[in-house]
Amino acid sequence: MQTFFFIAFPYIALILAIGVGLYRYFSHRFTYSSLSSQLLENRHLFWGSVSWHYGITLILVAHILPWLFPRAAEVVLGDNARLVVLELTGLALGFYCVFGIIVLIARRLPNDSRARAVTSPMDWILLLVLAFQVLSGVGVALFERWGSVWYLSTAVPWLWSLVWLHPDASTVTGLPVFIQAHLISGFVVILLFPFTRLVHVFAIPIEYLWRPYQVVIWNRDPRQPVSSTSAKVPTVFMPTRPAPNDLDRRRLLVRLSILAGSVSAAIVGIPSIAFLLGLRKAPEVWRGLGAADSFQIGQAVEVSFLDSSPLPWSGVTARTAAWLRRESPEQFIAFAINCTHLGCPVRWLPNADLFMCPCHGGVFYKDGTVASGPPPKALVTYPVRVREGVVEILTSPLPITSI
Ligand code: FES
Repeated sequence: MQTFFFIAFPYIALILAIGVGLYRYFSHRFTYSSLSSQLLENRHLFWGSVSWHYGITLILVAHILPWLFPRAAEVVLGDNARLVVLELTGLALGFYCVFGIIVLIARRLPNDSRARAVTSPMDWILLLVLAFQVLSGVGVALFERWGSVWYLSTAVPWLWSLVWLHPDASTVTGLPVFIQAHLISGFVVILLFPFTRLVHVFAIPIEYLWRPYQVVIWNRDPRQPVSSTSAKVPTVFMPTRPAPNDLDRRRLLVRLSILAGSVSAAIVGIPSIAFLLGLRKAPEVWRGLGAADSFQIGQAVEVSFLDSSPLPWSGVTARTAAWLRRESPEQFIAFAINCTHLGCPVRWLPNADLFMCPCHGGVFYKDGTVASGPPPKALVTYPVRVREGVVEILTSPLPITSI
């Protein structure tokens, strides 16, 4: 089941979003927007729309930037004061969004609401999914603190594994259920994208920033209440019959969109199906960590090594780390650096002979077993060997993959 939700479902959502999104854009371009209800009801819309759009935009940026630049995010979050400020800011933005979405839903609830009259069933589904997404996000921030840190070692590797077409959900399958629900519903939002008014994300009127001023003039005295007699009937422009050339071009664009959607579906779908059928394996590589004699018995040291399948543009993010401990002259043990609770990097306390997780106070004994705190299981270990005097570790694309 988890394979479906964390590996198959994200690809299904993305394939449909791209394929149907392109199709809708080329075949029904005038629907690539969201119907405005400002003329029907403005006061509630203002409070709901402003808080929702500003809040969700900033929250999206806060999710995307650490995903794109995880090392930079680690540096930024490495400072406790910055971490606390960012966490509190994120929480405040989350509440801001919750307020916005509640207003947007509430304005549609009364039976005589004009906004309700133009709300389609898909609008309701979208509003409810978005409400769940922000409420679960706020829940995660409240009950699993320091999410900005453990996000880097749980969701980020999983998302990159999807991008690299080496899907690996091992960093997220152990997360609490409500965090998993938050991740999955994020992909539900992506899935809903081409079927709902969410497409307006790509119809942002950016040109408003540089286009010439536009003068809007009321057609009636704005001080007078609108009545059936004073309201002006809007002029309706009937579309003219499209010329044959327009039809040809439209058909061509529809076919091109179907072709582009099929190609993207194949690019994403074939490798993922191969992975699900077991035809595609994540590469594992032995990496040297240094001369065996350079490690002292009884001490744990942090070692860094290159990922087993680095991409040319990965830069420093291709390096990962582990704790290496020399047990005896011949025996070494390597622990994944990530806590088994929510994946924060653990630290070695040499005086106490313990590993300590700074996020929620998880403590591990020197053999990696849990001493106290929320971690559900022992630290993950890597296979280690000594070859020609060099300690080597078996790596895979993610820090705790398939071990
Ligand atoms: S991530 Fe929660 S205790 Fe380590």
